[in-house]
Amino acid sequence: MAEQRVEKMADYCIRAENLTKSFSGKGRNNSKVLYRDLSLAVRPGEIVGLFGPSGCGKSTLGDILLSLQLPDRGNVFWNGVNVLQAGRKKRKALRPLFQKIHQDPGSSFPPHQLVGEALYDIVRLRNPALAGEGYRQQMAAAAQEVHLDEKLLDRYPIQLSGGEIQRFALARALLNNPVFLVADEPTSRLDYSVQANIIRLLMRLAEKRRIGILLISHDRSLLQVACERIMTLKEEDNKI
Ligand SMILES: Nc1ncnc2c1ncn2[C@@H]1O[C@H](COP(=O)(O)OP(=O)(O)O)[C@@H](O)[C@H]1O
Ligand SMILES: [Mg+2]
Repeated sequence: MAEQRVEKMADYCIRAENLTKSFSGKGRNNSKVLYRDLSLAVRPGEIVGLFGPSGCGKSTLGDILLSLQLPDRGNVFWNGVNVLQAGRKKRKALRPLFQKIHQDPGSSFPPHQLVGEALYDIVRLRNPALAGEGYRQQMAAAAQEVHLDEKLLDRYPIQLSGGEIQRFALARALLNNPVFLVADEPTSRLDYSVQANIIRLLMRLAEKRRIGILLISHDRSLLQVACERIMTLKEEDNKI
């Protein structure tokens, strides 16, 4: 008898089951249901696209997957662990492995802090036993991984381009050794020429580090370059 492959929950870095999410508006019949019974899963090393018009619930879905917002119903599994039912300790331990970069490079880093200092905070948190020079080496390696000159670590956000800041936001996320990353419209505020470089970088990192990525965009052609699977949210279905 042919052996059946049984897919395990742990085959996915993230898996959502039967998510329902709504926001209640003012007045009767004015609630907005973003989705009902939505399920999705992302495997290590896979980039799944999330497409849909502005306001259809893409960012909300990314946030639910990261446990930054709660669904009305449904479950989210991180590496096979039911996050909504997990204890605080378990959730805290898993938290750094689930990261996000968002659309607005301008608000990714505090304006009065050198970007290197922001990265240093993460390096120190993750490697408390490192010595002085070791910190710098880790930060330089983090900059190098996103193809940035380490000299840029000594700049303030305002002294960097949008593309450079977005790369540093990615470097900061990578310092946590994530298994899953939500990239929420990561290139929509960037010049067209810079967009392709960031997408190529995400593709390389997914493959090299085996990170599962949910790439959110309202640009279908961009998703078609990066993703094998694209999930579409439609706003017209959402009204009740
Ligand atoms: N906290 C909230 N309270 C009420 N409505 C919200 C809240 N957050 C988002 N929404 C609404 O939910 C819809 C989806 O938002 P969002 O997920 O940001 O969409 P997208 O990322 O696809 O543009 C929007 O209509 C938005 O106004
Ligand atoms: Mg959004």
